[in-house]
Amino acid sequence: MKLDVVLGLQWGDEGKGKIVDVLAGNYPIVARFQGGPNAGHSLHFEGKSFVLRSVPSGIFRKDAINIVGNGVVLDPITFRKECENIESTGVPVKERIVIAKKAHLILPTHRLLDAANEAAMGKGKIGSTLKGIGPTYTDKVSRNGLRVGDILATDFEARYRKLRDRHAKMLSQMEYACDPSAEEADFFAAVEYLKGFRLIDCEYFVNNELKDKPILAEGAQGSMLDIDYGSYPFVTSSSTACAGACIGLGVAPSQIGHVYGIFKAYCTRVGSGPFPTELFDETGEKLRKIGNEFGAVTGRPRRCGWLDLVALKYAVMISGVTDLIMMKSDCLDSFETIKVCTSYIVDGQETSQVPFDTYADIRPVYTEFKGWNADLTGCRDEKELPAEFREYIKFMEDYLEVPIKIISLGPDRDATIMR
Ligand code: IMO
Ligand code: MG
Repeated sequence: MKLDVVLGLQWGDEGKGKIVDVLAGNYPIVARFQGGPNAGHSLHFEGKSFVLRSVPSGIFRKDAINIVGNGVVLDPITFRKECENIESTGVPVKERIVIAKKAHLILPTHRLLDAANEAAMGKGKIGSTLKGIGPTYTDKVSRNGLRVGDILATDFEARYRKLRDRHAKMLSQMEYACDPSAEEADFFAAVEYLKGFRLIDCEYFVNNELKDKPILAEGAQGSMLDIDYGSYPFVTSSSTACAGACIGLGVAPSQIGHVYGIFKAYCTRVGSGPFPTELFDETGEKLRKIGNEFGAVTGRPRRCGWLDLVALKYAVMISGVTDLIMMKSDCLDSFETIKVCTSYIVDGQETSQVPFDTYADIRPVYTEFKGWNADLTGCRDEKELPAEFREYIKFMEDYLEVPIKIISLGPDRDATIMR
C-alpha cells in the first residue's frame, strides 16, 4: 500500500493538525518525518483542544499507531511533558507511539545554542522558535549528534557529556552567559521516560507495515520554510517538502501515493523573512483577529497577508501535490473584496516565478474577487456554498492545476467539506 503525505504549502500554521486528525480515521498509522517541537499542531474535537508538538496528530484515534520518524529531532523534556498531558486525559500514549532509534536528540544545550545564535545575529535574526532545531540538525549533519537509540548504550552519559562540553565551549566562545548543566536532571529523567516507549528501526517498521496498510505522513512547518526551497536563510533546518517524507521515514519515492497540500485562504508567517503579500494595514489586522493568528508555540502575533498563488504554485511543483486542502476560507466571510496574488513584479519585470534573491524587492500583482458576504461556517455540503465562493475556488484550481478536494470551514473535526 501507499504512503500518503500531508504537507503545509506556505510558511507553516496551515492547519495540518486538524486535517491529519480528520484523515487519520482512514489510516491505521500516522508518522511524523521531520521537524520537532518547533511545530504546534492544533486539534479541536468534542469540545476539547490540544496543541501537539512532537506527537503525531493521529494520537487521539483509537488503535492508530503514531510514528516519530528518524527525520524528526526529539526533545525528551518537551516530549515527556506533552505525553504526560495527553496521558492525563486517558489516552494510552505508550501503546500508540513508537519512536525511531535514528531520530536525533535535542539536548538542553542545543536550545541554548539556538538562543546564542539568534542573539548574535541581532537584527538579521531568523525569528527561530528557539527549540534547538537548527543546532540539533547541525550536529546531525556534522556527525556529532546523539540519537534516540543511543539512550540504550551503557556509555550514554559519557557521550552526552562529551557533546555538552563541546556545546559549552561554543557558548563560551560566543560569550553567551548560561549554565549548560541547569536542565540536566530533567533531561535524564525524560530519557528514562523515553525508555518506556517502543524504539524501532523505522525503515524496517514502515516498509513492513506498508505491505498491507496505508500510512499517513504528517509534515511539519511549510514548503516556504524548507531548508533548500524556502526563503533561505529565513527557513527551518529540515526538508519540509514531499521528498523529506522518503528520507525521514526510509521509504522509496515509488511508495508515495496521494500528496495532500494544505493552504490557508490567506497567508501568515511568523519570524523574519520575505512575505510579498504582507498587509501592514487594518485589513491585515482584521485577518489576524478573525483568524486568531497568534503562534501556537510562541504566542507571537503572526504576520498576515493575501493569498500568494505564485508561492503556492511553486510549493505544488516541488512536492507534486495531487490534492489540495483549503483551510480557513470562512475567515474571509466578511470581506467586501478578496485579493489573490497571481504574479510578482521583481526589478520592474513581471514574473510568475519565486526569485532566487531572498532580499529582492517583490511587488505583488493581484486579481480581485467580490466577497461572498455570507457565513460559511455552517455549510456541510458543497451545494450550500455561495456562487462567488465557488468562482473563487474554480479560479484557484485553474491557476494551480490541482483540484481542491477538502474545504475546511472551522477548527472542529466536523467543519469539513469533502469534495
Ligand atoms: P507548524 O508545524 C510556523 C518558523 C519560525 C522561524 C523559522 C525557523 O506548526 O506549522 P526554527 O525554530 O525551526 O529554527 O524556526 O521557522 N517556524 C514555524 N512557523 N509554524 C511552524 O510549525 C514553524 N516551525 C518553525 O517562526 O521563522
Ligand atoms: Mg505553528
